[in-house]
Order: sequence, then C-alpha cells, then structure tokens
Amino acid sequence: EETGKSGYDHFMLKEIHEQPRSLRQCLQGRVDELAGQVTLEELPSLSPTRVHLVAAGTSYHAALYGAHLLQERGIPAQPFYAHEYASFTPPGDDALVVGVSQSGETADTLAAMREAHRRGADTLAVTNTVGSTLARESDHVLYIRSGPEIGVAATKTFASQLTALNLLTLSIAAGREARDVIASLRDLPGDVQAVLDDSKAEQVASAFADSDSYFFIGRGLHFPVALEGALKLKEISYEHAEGFAAGELKHGPLALVTENTPVFALVTGDGEAARKTIGNVKEVEARGAPVVAITDGLSDVGRYADYVLPIPESHPRVAPILANVQLQLVAYHVANQLGRPIDKPRNLAKSVTVE
Ligand code: G6P
Repeated sequence: EETGKSGYDHFMLKEIHEQPRSLRQCLQGRVDELAGQVTLEELPSLSPTRVHLVAAGTSYHAALYGAHLLQERGIPAQPFYAHEYASFTPPGDDALVVGVSQSGETADTLAAMREAHRRGADTLAVTNTVGSTLARESDHVLYIRSGPEIGVAATKTFASQLTALNLLTLSIAAGREARDVIASLRDLPGDVQAVLDDSKAEQVASAFADSDSYFFIGRGLHFPVALEGALKLKEISYEHAEGFAAGELKHGPLALVTENTPVFALVTGDGEAARKTIGNVKEVEARGAPVVAITDGLSDVGRYADYVLPIPESHPRVAPILANVQLQLVAYHVANQLGRPIDKPRNLAKSVTVE
C-alpha cells in the first residue's frame, strides 16, 4: 500500500495532486476550442425538456452544480438526493434522469435510477467506473475518466464530475459563451497545478486547527463547493463544519458565528455575486469571525480577510473547480494536524451498497 502512495503520506493527498492529470484525461478528445464545440462520442445528441440529477454525498454536490449549469442555459434541471428521489419521485416522465456516482454502485443512486427507468425516463450515468452497475443499467453513460480513487474522501473524482457536467451542458446547450468556457477548461489542468504548487492551505489549517466549527459560504455555482468544502472537512477531521449559501447566513446561521468559527468565503470575479458575498464577509467579520477568502483577486475581498487562498482567473463556470482544490487542501491539513486516519475515516465507506 505504501508504494501505491507514490511518496505521499496519504492516498487523499496523492489523489489531490493527481487532478491535473485526471482532468486532462476527462477533457481528452472531447473539446474543440476553435469550433467552440464539445463532442462526447459515447453519447447521442440529447435535447431533454427537463433534467433530474440524482446522487449522494459528494456526488450530490456535483449534481447541484450540474443542475445550476443547465438552469443557466435555460434547461429546467433539479438535483435530488437519490434516497429521496427513489421514495418520493417527482412528476416528469419526460425528464432525462442523470445519476452521478463515482463508484456506480451506490445503492441509493441505483434505486433512484431504477425507479426512473420503471417510469420510462431516459437515463444517463455520469460515473468513473467502467462496467459498474450504474453504467450497465443506464441508457447512456458519460465517463469522468479520473482513474481509480482509493481515499474514502472523494477528491479528484469530484473535480472530474464538475468538469464532465460542464461538458454535458455544453453538448446539450452550447450558447454564445461556449468558446470562453472551453478555453478555461483547456487551462484548468495547468491552473490546478498552479494552485497545488503554491497553496498556503497548510498555514491556514495550522492557524485554525482547534476551532469550534468551520463555515463555508458561496453563491451560485460556488454554493455546491461550499457544501463540499464542509463535507470534506467533517469526513476526515471529525470537526464540525457547515456550508451555506452566502445569502442565507443572515437568516439563522449567523447566530453561530464567533471568533472561534473561521468562515471560508468563495469569491471570484467582481460582479454582483462577489459584491454580495463580500457584504456577508463584512457581517461575519463584524462578529469577530476570522475570514479566509478563496479568490481570484478580481474583487477587494482580500481587504476583509485574515488569509487569502488565491486561485487563477477563470470562467465563472470553472472557477469553483479551482476554489475546491484549496478547500481540499485545507480539509487535508486540518485532519493531518489532528492526527486523523485520513484515508479511512471512522464509520465511512468508499461506496455504500445498502439503502
Ligand atoms: C459514500 C462515500 C462518499 C460518496 C458517496 C457517494 O457515502 O463515503 O464519499 O460521496 O458514497 O458515492 P458515489 O460512488 O455514488 O459517488
């Protein structure tokens, strides 16, 4: 097992560092920058009237992100927890039902997809695992091509799920911005490498490793990444963490904010979303909370932050993938400093095959 880690202390850290390569594999042969086109050879041309995305855990956060992408392109799309979908299937036999699952073996997701199939819906698997039950049982399959992931905490596969859902969205409804998105996707492996080469996440983790709780806030496409940042930290450090849609903070969670609850704020670009999230940053700062900004530096959020974890400038659809790398490293280093068994957290399994 030691040799499998290629010199890294944990599979999780190795897999975080494998992301430039796994993302390159995910994009390989699928994007034509000049034409501004995406070709997904394994898929027929799909033009769904609506899309339901079903998933669990980290993959649910990818589903939330995917639904948001499709909605931006005018396609009605909704994410569902797979276990909820199987029991309380919403109307929509005309929906394309997309099951997002790294393993392709999660029982909840399989049950949701079987229910969709029973109702006659068209089904699409977005998975890492060739020959998995999900891949075999679905009408269509889009592989994320991450390569095997050993660490229980999903890292590189989440990045590839977000990337594959970008490709899927471009293939269903390209839009005028397709060229710009594709250019950012082309730069993504190199940009992730730049984050990995220069991250100060370990210092941030040392500063906050004994906090009462950790909060993550983001708007729009950053919201799923805020949820994922919190989930990652919970899973491997056993510390309490929550992700919030930044605008929701004032509707309750603000009561939890103290000088012992660092707030990680995802702020990219300099538009309205950035401005509003900076407003939320000021609210928590006024209550004494330390702030860590994950930012491309286009706004002045750094002025209100105790620490800045920078990411390169990228298209708004791609920036969350870069921001997530910083949060993966924060979770890893907090857990490492607390001496947790990072690759095999208590009570968790890589793939949960019971409902
Ligand atoms: C388990 C794992 C999570 C994972 C979830 C969904 O709960 O511990 O890390 O996100 O299953 O797995 P899947 O293989 O369907 O993506």
